[in-house]
Amino acid sequence: MKIHIINGPNLNLLGVREKSIYGDADFITYFNTLQQRYTSHSLTYFQSNKEGELIDKLHEVGFNSDGIILNAGAYTHTSIAIADAIAAISTPVIEVHISNVYKREAFRHKSMLAASCKGVIAGFGLDSYRLALENFLNQ
Ligand code: DQA
Repeated sequence: MKIHIINGPNLNLLGVREKSIYGDADFITYFNTLQQRYTSHSLTYFQSNKEGELIDKLHEVGFNSDGIILNAGAYTHTSIAIADAIAAISTPVIEVHISNVYKREAFRHKSMLAASCKGVIAGFGLDSYRLALENFLNQ
C-alpha cells in the first residue's frame, strides 16, 4: 500500500519542542523505524510549516494513494482550507495527534478537519501514527 504521513507546523521540532507534551524523539528517527517495520509498503513523509504547502501536498497525493495520515498541528483547530482540501481528495485521511488534545486547552478540543476524515487518533504519543497506519493496512 501507498501511505503518506503529512505533518504540519512546528512538528519539525519534535524532540526539541515542549518535551513533556510531545516526547523527546525526533520524527525522522521514528519514521525510519516505521519504514523498517513495514518494508512491504510504501511510506513517505512530508512536513511543512505553511498551510498552502500542506494543501498542495494533499492535492498531489490525494488521488493516487491508499491513505494519508495527517497531523496538521495547530491548523487542525483553525483551517477551513485544509478541511476543504481533505473533502476534495479521494484518498482517505486519518487525523492524528501526539498529545491527547482533549486533556489540554479548550481551543484544542475543536477540530475543523475531523468531519472530513476517516477517523481521529489522539493521545498515544508517536504511536498514534502507527495506529493510523495499522488501520489503513488492515482494511
Ligand atoms: C498536535 C496538537 C495541536 O493542538 C498542536 O497545535 C500541535 C500538535 C499534537 O500532535 O498533539 O502542534 O497536533
